[in-house]
Amino acid sequence: MCGIVGYIGKLNAKNILLDGLEKLEYRGYDSAGIALVADQTVITTKTKGRIADLRQAVANDATGTCGIGHTRWATHGVPNEENAHPHQSQSGRFTIVHNGVIDNYRQLEEQYLNGVTLQSDTDTEIVVQLMDKFAEKGLSTEQIFRNVLDVLDGSFAFGLIDSERPGELFFAKNKSPLLIGVAAESNMLASDAMAVIKETDQFVEINDGEYGILTAERYQLFSGTTNEAIERAPFTASIDADDVEKGMYPHYMMKEIDEQPGVIRRIVQKYQDETGAFTIAEDLQAAVINADRLYIVACGTSYHAGLIGRKLIEEKAGIPVEVVVASEFGYDMPLLSEKPAFLFISQSGETADSRQVLVKVKALGHAAITLTNVPGSTLSREADYTLLLHAGPEIAVASTKAYTAQVAVLSILAETLGKAQDIVQVHDMAHELGIVANAMQTIIDEKEQIQQMVLDYVATTRNAFFLGRGVDYFVSLEAALKLKEISYIQAEGFSSGELKHGTIALIEDNTPVIALVTQPHTQLQIRSNCSEVQSRGAKVAIVVTEELAQTGDTFVIPNTALELTPLVSVVFTQLFAYYAALSRGCDVDKPRNLAKSVTVE
Ligand code: F6R
Repeated sequence: MCGIVGYIGKLNAKNILLDGLEKLEYRGYDSAGIALVADQTVITTKTKGRIADLRQAVANDATGTCGIGHTRWATHGVPNEENAHPHQSQSGRFTIVHNGVIDNYRQLEEQYLNGVTLQSDTDTEIVVQLMDKFAEKGLSTEQIFRNVLDVLDGSFAFGLIDSERPGELFFAKNKSPLLIGVAAESNMLASDAMAVIKETDQFVEINDGEYGILTAERYQLFSGTTNEAIERAPFTASIDADDVEKGMYPHYMMKEIDEQPGVIRRIVQKYQDETGAFTIAEDLQAAVINADRLYIVACGTSYHAGLIGRKLIEEKAGIPVEVVVASEFGYDMPLLSEKPAFLFISQSGETADSRQVLVKVKALGHAAITLTNVPGSTLSREADYTLLLHAGPEIAVASTKAYTAQVAVLSILAETLGKAQDIVQVHDMAHELGIVANAMQTIIDEKEQIQQMVLDYVATTRNAFFLGRGVDYFVSLEAALKLKEISYIQAEGFSSGELKHGTIALIEDNTPVIALVTQPHTQLQIRSNCSEVQSRGAKVAIVVTEELAQTGDTFVIPNTALELTPLVSVVFTQLFAYYAALSRGCDVDKPRNLAKSVTVE
């Protein structure tokens, strides 16, 4: 979490930094700051709050052709101005922004910084004070920086200014994302290409353990181990600048919900060959087919997509699958099967909880696949194989189109693995996904009805329940997560059969209970569980497919292949959460305490 941006060139860096930070706000938004270098003087402005607050705080006449900026998601120290980045060394010579966590910062403080009065509670400040400390030996900036990097444990992407070398911008990377943006007469740093895509589409990767220097005219990269110069050419980032704008939409979340039918159609196209058959790399398929069990590892919404993926892969490809929460699995690993393979699902491809499992299973010699929306992301680079979501940038913190893209790609993977083993497939997945895209559109077109339902059911409620069985239960989990994260209503997704074993005690008069009913073999049971809560005062809404609908049901969704109903019912729940958040005046795209890409464990 946290986003960093840097600029050195001929233009005033102020707006480039502020615009860049706005694009990175999804990575954290509790405080922010920029530092601009003009005439060997570094002027720093920091605020608690959003980039909009920072914009207000930065002086109108602030200028400088070199600068660094930061948007923060607090890990060490509360969100306030003192803890906001950039941090400056005691002498004022060095100024730094940092994304990541320095694990040994307390030891470093004890060992090297006796007598230094720290201005903040952050791990980052230790790094910049060490620059001062190590500078006492009269070394070059590069040497000082290298010596500091050598004593750090942890993850970092740094942008660093030395006021004694105002025409240069220093950087280093280890485990936190950082790219160099290359344009005519300027060079940039960014946690994500999106931040500076308006300035350039040319980017240079920085690998873990590398550091370097930018000037307006050139970029230099060095290996942190050998200090040798590294030649690396830029690549062209295929991000459409319009994809990262809201356009006419009030929120990114609504834009991304609306994009889903198009995303499903795009995924079908991307995975089809010229004959219309789905293709997935044969070695990736072999890695799964040759395994005796596939472990799906993920967090949050991606974990919920994994639950649907398990059913799809087991049913269509006959491969046993276990779905595990990354933060638990890495530290409490169960007895693994003899020949496991691992599938990491991560929209961002940067989630630290998932990455620590990836590192462990790779060390054990197991095959690892990453399903991600971000080509070149850490999880993608470190796995043996990558499957891409092709969903386009997802900017709202609450994940919507990435979830449906994950389920869609998992359905394609399941069918492909099944066919590779000559298992007869009941459906033509490409055709069924086309039907899904149309069904999603039908729900999106009925959003006003869902907005009305929100007013009827959760306008003033303290809590809410989503119920289902099987895949409907899995979607209930996702529905509850979405509702709580953006509307702050305490919501729970529950297996409807399990409710009576304790949780039913929470049902009071008018407790909203939304039941998802899409599977013929469980519909009677869910309906009877609904009657049980209704007779205890709950206000029940039944969201049901056309073929199972009965008089009095609340919202009807179009029929699709039974295994793909989650792709459609979830759209109802996304819109439900969106309107609930809107009706309560919540910040839909940037809910409190959260960040889009969770790069700390
Ligand atoms: C919820 C949400 C999170 C993410 C989770 C994993 O709307 O977005 O629960 O799903 O933090 O993130 P990724 O998929 O990037 O690994």
